[in-house]
Amino acid sequence: MMDDYVWFEGIAFPTVDTKPENLREIQENFVVNDEDVINLTYPKSGTNWLSEIICLIHSKGDPKWVQSVPNWQRAPWVETGRGYKMLQNREGPRIFTSHLPIQLFPKSFFHSKAKMIYCMRNPRDVLVSGYFFFRRMSIAKKPETLQQYLEWFLQGNVVYGSWFEHIRGWLSRRQCENFLVVSYEELTKDTRSVVEKICQFLGKKLTPEEIDLVLKYSSFHFMKENQMSNFSTLPSEYLKSGFLLQRKGVTGDWKNHFTVAQAEEFDEVYQQNMAGFPPKLFPWE
Ligand code: A3P
Repeated sequence: MMDDYVWFEGIAFPTVDTKPENLREIQENFVVNDEDVINLTYPKSGTNWLSEIICLIHSKGDPKWVQSVPNWQRAPWVETGRGYKMLQNREGPRIFTSHLPIQLFPKSFFHSKAKMIYCMRNPRDVLVSGYFFFRRMSIAKKPETLQQYLEWFLQGNVVYGSWFEHIRGWLSRRQCENFLVVSYEELTKDTRSVVEKICQFLGKKLTPEEIDLVLKYSSFHFMKENQMSNFSTLPSEYLKSGFLLQRKGVTGDWKNHFTVAQAEEFDEVYQQNMAGFPPKLFPWE
């Protein structure tokens, strides 16, 4: 089991802290409150970066919270056993994280006013980031080669299922007023504008100096140094020691790893799956 997946409704999940019966319970019975803020991503799309930004907006740039509490406690993953328990017992507005595809997300969200931010990323970079991540983690099947991981990814046989289905599912909500789409690419190009957009969406008024602090403490450099945000304190059941989440933090790294044949194989599946979306929706196209 250590090197495989947990399966639920045809979707692969990590083997650590995830049980099909919990996933069912969360989907049916977790109560999303109107005041909640949800960080929703497909894995390796900038989840932890966005989580840091949301937490720092919440503290108006004061780094005390992000430097003293691990990110999986500040903004727990609702679909994990630990995260679910933490969130159930938490009073007041909560910030939480999830990678769930839309069809498995807590049903109560769809009747709530909770605000969700969906961060997307060029799936080629998601793939490369995931390849290096899952080789080191002990929570799912480990790929031996990039080619092998590319095939799993294109078939949707990776944790949280197909990237294509995830994005198609969640982007169906992009016109909803409690749903904001951002991208890793925009964040990299102009972090300040995206942070301002998020503040506006959340109804948070920060001064320019407070925004400067949000930018400073959520930067790649600061997060890599921050033990509460770099995965260095994750329990050993999750990963081999010495791994840090902040690997490169750039866009377009896939070009350093894909062969021409792999890029073509990827493009063919991408075109088949993504036809019909309006132009300019995806900053990597
Ligand atoms: P790379 O592996 O391409 O470097 P997630 O949080 O969804 O698991 O995504 C991890 C990716 O986000 C990694 O990408 C990681 O380096 C990048 N990342 C994490 N913190 C970041 C930050 N502050 N700025 C830019 N990228 C960041």
